[in-house]
Amino acid sequence: MKFMSLLLAAGALTTLVGSCNNSSENKNDQAAKPGITKTDWGEHDGENVYLYTLVNDKGTKVTITNYGGTVTSFVTADKNGNKSSIIIGFDSLQQYLQKPPYFGALIGRYGNRIGDAKFSLDGKTYKLSANDGKNTLHGGLKGFDKVVWDASVPSDSVPSLTLKYLSKDGEEGYPGNLNVTVQYTLTNDDELKIEYNAETDKATPVNLTNHSYFNLSGDVNNTILGNTLMIDADHYTPVDSTLIPTGEIKAVKGTPFDFTSPKKIGRDIDSVKGGYDHNWVLNKKDTSLQKVAELSDSISGRSLEVYTTQPGLQFYTGNFLDGKFINRDGKPIKQHTALCLETQHFPDSPNKPNFLSTILKPGEKYHEVTIYKVKLN
Ligand code: GLA
Repeated sequence: MKFMSLLLAAGALTTLVGSCNNSSENKNDQAAKPGITKTDWGEHDGENVYLYTLVNDKGTKVTITNYGGTVTSFVTADKNGNKSSIIIGFDSLQQYLQKPPYFGALIGRYGNRIGDAKFSLDGKTYKLSANDGKNTLHGGLKGFDKVVWDASVPSDSVPSLTLKYLSKDGEEGYPGNLNVTVQYTLTNDDELKIEYNAETDKATPVNLTNHSYFNLSGDVNNTILGNTLMIDADHYTPVDSTLIPTGEIKAVKGTPFDFTSPKKIGRDIDSVKGGYDHNWVLNKKDTSLQKVAELSDSISGRSLEVYTTQPGLQFYTGNFLDGKFINRDGKPIKQHTALCLETQHFPDSPNKPNFLSTILKPGEKYHEVTIYKVKLN
């Protein structure tokens, strides 16, 4: 049966297309059969919010809401066959409305920071919303993570969700009406594929990413400091005290930023003030989809491969997590208990002439792809 018809049969309310008896999984597990289901999840800004559950042939499950295009869980089996979510998150819209720091969300119009919340383009200076001291971060006060996206389910042979959002001319200070489409697909190889497309009617900076926080052990009582990470990057972009790149492209060799060979995250983290929250300049030479990073966790036996078309990767060790937010399993999300691998263009590119351009012009098509692939070691 096509997934589309499964969905239509589901109607507006949740439909159970199977059940899962795994005790380590959350109680809201509603789908064990391959396909996609849609659940009412509340309302925001007068618009309906839904939770979509994508399940592949192996029973791997991803839940995504059209509020912020947020991935709320990514449930896979560990080396013992126990299932748990490798990303942190919540089971209700209400908790996401408490503004957690971008848990699982789509980030735009410009992911990461723009210094002094301004940039100049074609002789004009644009003032953006400052929401991170004097800088703008992750799209401003109401970025793409805080809006309700239009969702539809394409009739594909693998479960997939299409999200659309029109960011109006002037929103958060950015020029141009930007039409954004993001497609999430869960493949039978346990890949969460994210395709980003955008078009504009005025030149504007665009830098879209996803802000999932991974804890491959599935348990936030374990920090991520024992995880092993490889990033295929010989350089990174050093930052000032407000996390704006200085403009330098610096070699990682001989520094704590060297992840060219797999290394424990905790090994050198104490030599990096505040922890890792930097952009790596990926070694890839073109815009093709390539493997750029691999994270491994020995407790669960899970690994995560990251593939992307993008030139940069923000590796963030959850430095600002302070236990204020409680994960779906009732445990506080403390510092270094989850990490982000945000594929992107470099932060502050609109003000850094030596960085690759992030300006999208009318008539051009923005297209980027990132894949998070889970496997057992
Ligand atoms: C990004 C930034 C971090 C932090 C988090 C959210 O990863 O680089 O500095 O702002 O988002 O807390």
